[in-house]
Order: sequence, then structure tokens, then C-alpha cells
Amino acid sequence: MSSDGLTARYLTGRESIEAPERRRAVRDRLVLRGAREHNLKDIDVSFPLHMLTVVSGVSGSGKTTLVKRILYPALKRQLEGFSERPGEHLALEGDLARIEAVELVDQDPIGRSSRSNPVTYVKAWDEVRQLFTEQDVAKVRGYKPSFFSFNVDGGRCDVCQGEGEVRIEMQFMADISLTCDACKGKRFKEEILDVKFHGHDVAEVLDMTVDDALLFFQLHTGTAACARIVSKLLPLQQTGMGYVKLGQSSSTLSGGEAQRIKLASFLTKGQDERPTLFIFDEPTTGLHFHDIAKLLRALDMLIANGHSVICIEHNTEVIKCADHVIDLGPEGGEGGGQVVFTGTPEDLVAQSDSLTGAALARNWTRSA
Ligand SMILES: Nc1ncnc2c1ncn2[C@@H]1O[C@H](COP(=O)(O)OP(=O)(O)O)[C@@H](O)[C@H]1O
Ligand SMILES: [Mg+2]
Ligand SMILES: [Zn+2]
Repeated sequence: MSSDGLTARYLTGRESIEAPERRRAVRDRLVLRGAREHNLKDIDVSFPLHMLTVVSGVSGSGKTTLVKRILYPALKRQLEGFSERPGEHLALEGDLARIEAVELVDQDPIGRSSRSNPVTYVKAWDEVRQLFTEQDVAKVRGYKPSFFSFNVDGGRCDVCQGEGEVRIEMQFMADISLTCDACKGKRFKEEILDVKFHGHDVAEVLDMTVDDALLFFQLHTGTAACARIVSKLLPLQQTGMGYVKLGQSSSTLSGGEAQRIKLASFLTKGQDERPTLFIFDEPTTGLHFHDIAKLLRALDMLIANGHSVICIEHNTEVIKCADHVIDLGPEGGEGGGQVVFTGTPEDLVAQSDSLTGAALARNWTRSA
């Protein structure tokens, strides 16, 4: 099915993201008092924990200032003792004892090295390297896991140092990148590519999309390393990243993609982690409806694992699925900075003076 077809089905309401049947009830909460950085009008805001809280509002209403500039650093300071200086506010109070960590899942690039990529970020490449050392050819030749790394010398191509391309400095123009002649872009020495797992070498694995790699490794989950690879790649698919290649350089990923890979890495960490508050700033940026549904399921998994999620978002599909909405406004800039509404999405729709409520009402009518 083409993605155009999917879009049409969402737009005509034949396929829409279902609002949850019931909203989680508010129990524990963080209370921020006297927030007045930028355009915020000395407001008190209560953020419920253990649920999906969405901070909505028109552009410039103060969402980022409230959540990223004040709440995040103020909370980090209380939990860890240090942070950048929070924006102007009086106090952060409430059930701070109910969370142990705070994570800002932003759109900054993952990893500085051009060799960092989705499969290394979620630590699945360690398992792939292990799997390849267990193959007969590797055993006979005594290859160690490091031989299948593109970060250290040994098996990686010496000419491009595992990048697959070489950069040519041009005196008066931007540098240009050319496919490495020595390895033909495969990033490894030829003898390393002799090692195959069911017909595929490591260069071919790096060239697989997350979806294809899952299909491939799921066929062989009797092998312990394969089972671990699958469990580490699955969260990438669950956050709507099934289409990216395992080895795609992180420098080429969009901000929204980087953010979703970070989310995936938190999902791989499992269930016995410290209760954490996750903060997202517009995670649906660049996402198709179909992937927004996946993203929402991923956020739900975090909450099911005992965490809390606060999401800055103006996408109505996400607002519709929130347990609790904090709507800022009424306008952007100096005309904003106030809390216009707090409560469930159902109640927000009934709020006639909220622009977010009006947009949400249109969404609901369309999918009814
Ligand atoms: N660093 C800054 N210095 C001065 N004003 C700022 C700064 N950042 C944001 N603002 C202003 O504060 C208001 C709220 O901005 P912001 O929190 O980014 O809104 P939102 O995230 O809802 O789009 C806007 O009027 C914006 O121009
Ligand atoms: Mg913002
Ligand atoms: Zn090379």
C-alpha cells in the first residue's frame, strides 16, 4: 500500500488514531510556582505524573519556555544537584519523591562521530559483532568482535577508517565526499566480508533497513545473539524508524529521527529502571500519521513501565490521546504565557475560547 493511500484514509477518517477508552486519573504531581521567564505571566502549573501529559498551545505561547527552560532544569537540579540555570520561577514542589530521574529527549543529533548510527546507538551492533565471531570462518581465522567494529583498527578499512567514504578538501568550496575506493564503500577489509551469517556479510547487514533486519534475524532467534539483536532493534521499529538503514550515518538523520532513536534506546533498557520523567518537544515533527500511532504506543510502553511523560505537542492526534492537557495561550508572544485550560481532551473540546480545543473538535468530528 502506498503512503499516499494511507494519508487519504486518515484524512477521510476511515483510519484514525483512536482516543484511549479511559484516561489515567491524576494522583502524584509536580507543581511549578510563579513561572515568569520570557512571556510567562507568573503562572502556577501542575504536571501530573505516571501518565501522558501534553502541553499544547499556539506557536510562541510559551510551551518550550515552561517545560524545557524551567521545569526540566529545575527538576534536574533537585534530582541530581546540578543543571543549567532554570528560567525565572519561585519554586518546584509536589511529589518529587515519586521520580528519580529526568530525561529530555530532544532533537539534537545523536553522536558526534560520523560513524555513529542507529544500530550502534541502541547497542545492537555489539550483538551483531558477537554473532559474526561465532561463524566458522571467523572462528578458524581467530577473528575477535573488534574486527567487526568500524570504530577501531583491525577489520575496518584502513583507507577510510570504516566510514565508507573519504572527504576531499576543496580550497574554495565545501568539502566533497567520495565513496572509498579501497573498500568500495563497504567499510571493511575484504577478508572480513568472507564471514557470512546465512549468506550475508556485515556490510550487507549495515545496509539493511530496520524492518528488513528484523525479518532476517527473526528467522534465527534460536541463536542467542540473534534473539538479542531482535530485542534491541524492535524498539526502533516501534518508534516508527523501520525504514532507516542500520548503518545510516547519524549526521544525515533529521531532528525528529534522532529524537525517536533516543526514545528507542530508552525502550531497550527494559523495565526495572528508575522511575523517570521523560520530556519531549514536538516528537511528531516530520512523522506520518501511521508512525504517530506507533510513537503513541511507544510512549504508552514507557508509562506502563512506571515512567511519566510530558510532551510539548500541537498535533491533534497526540493531544487526543493525552491523559491530561495543559493548554497555554491564548495567543503567541506577549499575548500568551497563560494557562488557558487544564484537564482531559474531552473537556478541552468543550472549551470554546481555546484554539487548541477548536482544532481538536475538528479532528474528532472528522474521525467520528
Ligand atoms: N531566548 C529568548 N529570549 C527572549 N524571548 C524568548 C526567548 N525564547 C523565546 N522567547 C519568547 O518567549 C515566547 C514563548 O516562546 P516559546 O516558549 O518558544 O513558545 P512555544 O514553545 O510555545 O512556541 C515567545 O514570544 C518567544 O518569542
Ligand atoms: Mg516550542
Ligand atoms: Zn574504505
